[in-house]
Amino acid sequence: MDHLEEIRGRIGIEELVGSYVQLKKAGKSLKGLCPFHSEKTPSFIVSPDKGIAWCFGCHQGGDIFKFTQLVENVNFAEAVKILAQKTGVKLPERMPLIANQRLKTIEINEVASQFYQKKLEENPKMKDYFLNRGLTNETIQKFRLGYAPDSFDQLKNHLTEKHYDRKDLIEAAVVSQRSIADQSTYDRFRNRLMFPIFDHQDNPVAFSGRIVGQGEPKYINSPETPAYSKSLILYALNWAKESIKQKNVAIFMEGYMDVIAAHQAGTTNAVATCGTALTPQQLKLIQRYTKNIIFCFDGDGAGKEATFRAIELAQSSDVNLSVIQVPEGKDPDECIQKNPAAWQKAVENPISVMDFYFDQATKKFETQTVQGKKQVLDFLLPFIKTAKSEMEQNIYIHRLSLMLQTDPKLLWNDLRNLKSHKSHAQPVSEATIKTHSFTREEYLLGFIFSHPEIYPEIDKGLILTIPVDPDTERFYIALKTVYTRTSSIELAQIKEVFTEEDRERVEVLGLLVDEEYPDFSEENRMREVKKLIREINRKNLFNTQKEVEYKIRLSQDPAEKKSLLNHYNEILKLTLKI
Ligand code: GTP
Ligand code: MN
Repeated sequence: MDHLEEIRGRIGIEELVGSYVQLKKAGKSLKGLCPFHSEKTPSFIVSPDKGIAWCFGCHQGGDIFKFTQLVENVNFAEAVKILAQKTGVKLPERMPLIANQRLKTIEINEVASQFYQKKLEENPKMKDYFLNRGLTNETIQKFRLGYAPDSFDQLKNHLTEKHYDRKDLIEAAVVSQRSIADQSTYDRFRNRLMFPIFDHQDNPVAFSGRIVGQGEPKYINSPETPAYSKSLILYALNWAKESIKQKNVAIFMEGYMDVIAAHQAGTTNAVATCGTALTPQQLKLIQRYTKNIIFCFDGDGAGKEATFRAIELAQSSDVNLSVIQVPEGKDPDECIQKNPAAWQKAVENPISVMDFYFDQATKKFETQTVQGKKQVLDFLLPFIKTAKSEMEQNIYIHRLSLMLQTDPKLLWNDLRNLKSHKSHAQPVSEATIKTHSFTREEYLLGFIFSHPEIYPEIDKGLILTIPVDPDTERFYIALKTVYTRTSSIELAQIKEVFTEEDRERVEVLGLLVDEEYPDFSEENRMREVKKLIREINRKNLFNTQKEVEYKIRLSQDPAEKKSLLNHYNEILKLTLKI
């Protein structure tokens, strides 16, 4: 019997949370004041159906174990202990369970990693993939890159021969169980290029597997395991930490390939988040090594958006931020391959956050039209308002006045009239947590997760299919994949391909819609969904249009320019239709 399941069976989320927080019934769920941040109106929702408690103010919560971790400020193992005591579940002696499971998982990952490395050596074609992307043999070895063969059982057999338990292999997530009914297992990663992920102490805690060539999903990651919590890990920190200390600065990138290419090119202080937005824990972790952080995300819209979000998160910490904009190609890796000199130059000359905002403003908006100037002001003034001193504000107001050909006095007026609560970056104490409102993409996902039957409408309606939003993109990709294959959306099926953390997100977004649109008629729901689709389409088209405009302006090659113009016209046509 699984002890965690036994505990789960003995205490409901509402009972557990109820012992900490006064809860009131509100429809299918319960409501109370959030125990994680101070608030006057309740935004803490407990859903007995979904088995989670979630704060829509500070965006924290989870199942009974996660809740206990958060509220008692303890790690997972300690949370299990506390709950076992509460529910009278006997844990095995001295609870070797969790601590050992972490070590077992690491050991299994180590063996798996060696297996994948060996397979890469045996498959020159796969090795060529890395070599063709400009990696040297030395780099391939250093990062322990590998190949998972196109087989359902080679790794499983290899590990079984070494006497590892079926159950431990499942826990380590190198194999998956077919279903509850069918207990047989199969290799999780098949025909994929393997990137082992290490924690900062050099333990192999997880894997990411890239598809060979094109296709979806591009990367498959290990789910959360006893050794891996993706919000706590920075990829490549094990190789970068000495260099980060020495250079006293860390560079954050988006992709594994970006980081590896950067290290090979001498930028050895680069790390990556593991396919998520930057988390507060990762920010804490890096501060053991340096207070200076540079964001160098992809050059596309999603990368810019990620930069804004990362800055917003990091501004409340005691760190110095700057930005490197990839000077050529779509991401650092492409730039390094195409133009290493431009890369070196960019790395040596990061720009300030404010320079980044100004640059984005000129790219996003017209500075010569009244409408455009207004947009620039709305965009930039809140940032200027947060500048530390009046002297700094003066510099930026002056720059803005030149840019918009406007009297600085008027701008000062606008700045003073700007309500300070609008500022993007208020200093935040440790105790208060940033509130985050949900994006349209998240609401739309919420509708799908609470009413999967509306998915066909969404599949039909979204023009670019996948919202250009790094945090929701993979959900849309998974939905699209499942829908294409089975012509319907079964939540259980979707959840199967997700990590635990993503599964929690599915619950939270479903809950969000349940809460905000209680008792919505089918008709109203459809109207709301259509509105969201329209707005997302409009925003995506607008962003794409701006991006193409920008490329047209830069393009030197007539043929390229012509195809960009065609693309531009197509976008315009679509824009007129919605
Ligand atoms: P290459 O195409 O090999 O150069 O990959 P990349 O490193 O440039 O990746 P990309 O910019 O497309 O994505 C950045 C990071 O997001 C990746 O390194 C992964 O961590 C993550 N990521 C990308 N695609 C997926 C996906 O389909 N699923 C998941 N879980 N993560 C992904
Ligand atoms: Mn890339």
